[in-house]
Amino acid sequence: MYRTHTCGELRIANINTNVTLAGWVQRIRDFGGMSFIDLRDRYGITQLVIDENTNQPVVAQIGQLGREYVIQVKGMVRERSSKNMNIPTGEIEIALTEILILNPSLVPPFTIQDDTDGGDELRMKYRYLDLRRNAVKQNIELRHKMAQETRRYFDDQGFLEIETPVLMKSTPEGARDFVVPSRTNPGMFYALPQSPQTFKQILMVAGYDRYFQIVKCFRDEDLRADRQPEFTQIDCEMSFVEQEDILNTFEGMLRHLFKKIKGIGFDQPFLRMSFEDAMNNYGNDKPDLRFDMKIHELTGKLQGKGFGVFDQSPYIGGICATGAANYSRKQIDELTEWVKRPQIGAKGLIYIRFGNDGVKSSIDKFFNAEELAEIGNLFGAKTGDMIFVLSGEKKKTLGQLSELRLETGNRLGLRDKNRFVPLWVVDFPLFEWDEGTQRFYAMHHPFTSPKPEDMEFFESDPGRVRANAYDCVVNGVELGGGSIRIHDQKLQQKMFKVLGFTKEQAEYQFGFIMNAFTYGAPPHGGIAFGFDRLVSMFSGLDSIRDVIAFPKNNSGRDVMIDSPSTISKEQLEELQISLDLKDNK
Ligand code: AMO
Repeated sequence: MYRTHTCGELRIANINTNVTLAGWVQRIRDFGGMSFIDLRDRYGITQLVIDENTNQPVVAQIGQLGREYVIQVKGMVRERSSKNMNIPTGEIEIALTEILILNPSLVPPFTIQDDTDGGDELRMKYRYLDLRRNAVKQNIELRHKMAQETRRYFDDQGFLEIETPVLMKSTPEGARDFVVPSRTNPGMFYALPQSPQTFKQILMVAGYDRYFQIVKCFRDEDLRADRQPEFTQIDCEMSFVEQEDILNTFEGMLRHLFKKIKGIGFDQPFLRMSFEDAMNNYGNDKPDLRFDMKIHELTGKLQGKGFGVFDQSPYIGGICATGAANYSRKQIDELTEWVKRPQIGAKGLIYIRFGNDGVKSSIDKFFNAEELAEIGNLFGAKTGDMIFVLSGEKKKTLGQLSELRLETGNRLGLRDKNRFVPLWVVDFPLFEWDEGTQRFYAMHHPFTSPKPEDMEFFESDPGRVRANAYDCVVNGVELGGGSIRIHDQKLQQKMFKVLGFTKEQAEYQFGFIMNAFTYGAPPHGGIAFGFDRLVSMFSGLDSIRDVIAFPKNNSGRDVMIDSPSTISKEQLEELQISLDLKDNK
């Protein structure tokens, strides 16, 4: 038997027991006559002690040990004279009688502890060492627990977990596909699924009316803190449902996870907001509602007073930062520089300060106190508040105001990671116009159904048509999105037409699903949650990388296994792919 107990298990009640432990050497402290080893495994750390009563051969072995050596030890549990109440095993130690080195280790390139000295890239290269650290291990454990609770919830609700293929055909989620060449079908490629969207809809046609899957998805898109090229969805589809049924089921899932994992309950139903309200009031389709600070449009109010910047802007809007009137000149300048960064792209920042000494603004030359007070009233501004105003083209300015709102929220400490405000954003537009290509794109995906009451504009004014589509947003993070689908083949064909597909193109790409729909497709809809985003939110982390055991770096590389990499000439030849082969071995 390698071990009788784990390194996280022994307590005062085990005193005087002979035990065998196995694990990694966390550290060795030598105090002359007495040495201590911290032995670590997945479950915790136990202190081992070698003192004057220990056998000489064991004492001699201490010198052979190093950090991260794998050892097996035998000894007796005894009470510590100086206890460490910060760890669960801190009241006991093991008086060693035997040490067996199971495997030596090179000196690790960074310290295996919470506040490690290893930089990001180094830790990713040696991810197996990083994963030994408590801080990382906790995230992996949390992820496991959340996956189990998710499965429990859906199983209780009568959902079936059904696996869908990984080698499939391009899915219409809007990103680029990762493709896999087929050796047996030269010149042909599989695509890795951007989501199981088409398969889950086909499962509905097949009658599996409650499907879910915790599933890997692949998207070749630019990486950000909340995006990985391969990520995991909690993916679901249901038949004979309306939007309301889906929202209720998934509100239930989130409530279940919050309760079971974080012990948090929500008294009220989740808030609902239309896409239009979200855009107008928060400049964003995923507003962070942990704080208010709504955007107000000021176009009518601030134009025609001789201030050229405003007079030439199609849109003017502002936010009121509660309690920000004490911002110094320096802080305002800093914020101005912040909005002028290329990532935000504003031309400048106007402020109206409601201080103890009255109202002061950077546009005092053009607006009198009364006019500024009127603006203040619009926001409900009180003494101590500050209004920030941006102007320009509407969509762009709303986006900038949204960024400014979030940044101001950060600076004012209004975005507490331990508070969660869930929201359903509903009534998304069906289509999105793209200036570059001068055509409409499906805002969610081409299987999303239009709202029947907007059907009259379907061909005449597609931009006006709203969809039965919804997103789940928590604290400004889009956790999930879905829609009620089109199950009428004729409507689906119309949809492809508005999206600019010829009949042949639609047939080539989506013929299989349209065919399936001719054999009795039930009304259906679904949603998918980003599992990595959900776990990182529960763990209070900003990047989903931290909750993925083996993530990719910002250039989409796995630096541990050094992938992507070239492949051999033979492999390429077998696949009948010709490249400039000078780099291939
Ligand atoms: P959507 O494309 O909105 O919908 O994706 C659903 C959720 O998946 C997460 N997500 C990502 N997480 C990490 N890295 C990425 N690159 C990434 N891309 C998306 C987000 C997002 O809300 N098939 C539809 C769902 C449906 O209609 O049922 C779909 O995939 O949290």
